[in-house]
Amino acid sequence: MEDVMNESKRPRFTYLGHSTLRCDLPGGDVMLIDPWVNNPSCPEQLKQLERIDAMLITHGHFDHISDAVELAQRHHPGVVVANPEICHWLDSKGVENLREMNIGGEIEVLGCKVTMTWTLHSSGIVDGDQMVYGGNPGGFIVELPGGFTFYHVGDTDLFSDLQLIGELHQPDLVFMPIGDNYTMGPKRAAHACRLLNADKVVPIHWGTFPILTGTPDAFARQLADLGVDCELLIMQPGDVY
Ligand code: NI
Ligand code: MN
Repeated sequence: MEDVMNESKRPRFTYLGHSTLRCDLPGGDVMLIDPWVNNPSCPEQLKQLERIDAMLITHGHFDHISDAVELAQRHHPGVVVANPEICHWLDSKGVENLREMNIGGEIEVLGCKVTMTWTLHSSGIVDGDQMVYGGNPGGFIVELPGGFTFYHVGDTDLFSDLQLIGELHQPDLVFMPIGDNYTMGPKRAAHACRLLNADKVVPIHWGTFPILTGTPDAFARQLADLGVDCELLIMQPGDVY
């Protein structure tokens, strides 16, 4: 019964490729996580958004932040959420309505509870020929009114705190990096699913570049081998769930 209630009050998710996720909330607001719509995988017709009400940025690497300034200037989102270092940099570029937070913090965004989580990664911002310090990289857990909870894990290796995060937040749906090289690959991502005890998982951060060799098929095999009770939802860039 609870699942049915949650399902009716969940966002409509559009996977824009790589780590970029468009979440249309039940009330009509649009939340964009990791604004890189001009990634090579994003279908052309989805690169133009008609509105952005909130933007969440996991970390400073170009493949997560590249279109943040341009999209903020075009759509004037009511809130742009990132760590203090990224907010400072965005402020220097003229982005308004910044809301800084850090790992472990929980804030309200568009009526949702947003928690910033830990990752095992790095976070530098390319600015001209400089690499600006981007603070600690993170992920986001978003809990909607009614309880539906999704987790954008961000870029990371496997870490055992995922078990605690799973216990605390019990995510219904997880967006998990599997591409390898810059993040964990399929085997470690399957273990991450085991620790999280998530209901459903969508693989992200794969296929964008040849160097990202982890595939959804390999991820499916690893989940099966481990016997993880987690439904795999494979979304191609442009797919809606
Ligand atoms: Ni990264
Ligand atoms: Mn990345």
